[in-house]
Amino acid sequence: MALMFLTETVRAYRQRDPAARSNLEVWLCYPGLHAVGFHRFSSFLWRNGLLTLGRFVSHIGRFFTGIEIHPAAKLGRRFIIDHGMGVVIGETAEIGDDVYIYHQVTLGGTSDAPGKRHPTIGNHVIIGAGAKLLGDIAVGDNARIGANAVVVASVAADTTMVGIPARAVERIGHQPRFDAYGTPCDPCLDPLLHDLDQLRAGLAELEARLPRVPRDSAA
Ligand SMILES: CC(C)(COP(=O)(O)OP(=O)(O)OC[C@H]1O[C@@H](n2cnc3c(N)ncnc32)[C@H](O)[C@@H]1OP(=O)(O)O)[C@@H](O)C(=O)NCCC(=O)NCCS
Repeated sequence: MALMFLTETVRAYRQRDPAARSNLEVWLCYPGLHAVGFHRFSSFLWRNGLLTLGRFVSHIGRFFTGIEIHPAAKLGRRFIIDHGMGVVIGETAEIGDDVYIYHQVTLGGTSDAPGKRHPTIGNHVIIGAGAKLLGDIAVGDNARIGANAVVVASVAADTTMVGIPARAVERIGHQPRFDAYGTPCDPCLDPLLHDLDQLRAGLAELEARLPRVPRDSAA
């Protein structure tokens, strides 16, 4: 079962990370995948009452990957932690399916009272490098959290949040889907080609406005 979860996560890395060139590379070189593997084991121990052993396995995972995931945290399927170092996922955090987070992300608490005190993340959410999401807040499906944002209140679905404290930015014409780095690359991959297309369109518009001059009278 755990192997099946990891295998589909490897497939997700291949589809979503432009730097992932082969399955073997992902199995060997992606600490985010290793951290999720350690978490599956530590969570199994935790759920079976072996709390200290569960914490210890989680600690070993942290030692090897630089990613700290509490054994009681709930992770969805195809969860990707890209680069990974410095990620902290707290005890009562819950993460949906197809979530993609970068290094230095914290899903942390703001209170030491026991009970739910960490964020709940929806499906298809992207969280940029260094972002901090704090407290018992909910982040809706397809939301995007900008690099280094500090989010202290719940986020509606399909919303992009940036800054400290995080505020929503409008994303016109957004179609829910995954964009590498959370940044849409339409209308084309090369910004220079995009500028060139716009220049061509402007030129065609100007030409259309010019009065038509017969060829022989132009000479
Ligand atoms: C938040 C993010 C998803 C927005 O992408 P986008 O939809 O292309 O948005 P834009 O670039 O058009 O930016 C919209 C506005 O937000 C601002 N903005 C974008 N990202 C921001 C950030 N991280 N912090 C603060 N402001 C940010 C832009 O300056 C712009 O402001 P303006 O409207 O006043 O000009 C993207 O900028 C981001 O931070 N992605 C995470 C990337 C990452 O962590 N990469 C790590 C790779 S190792």
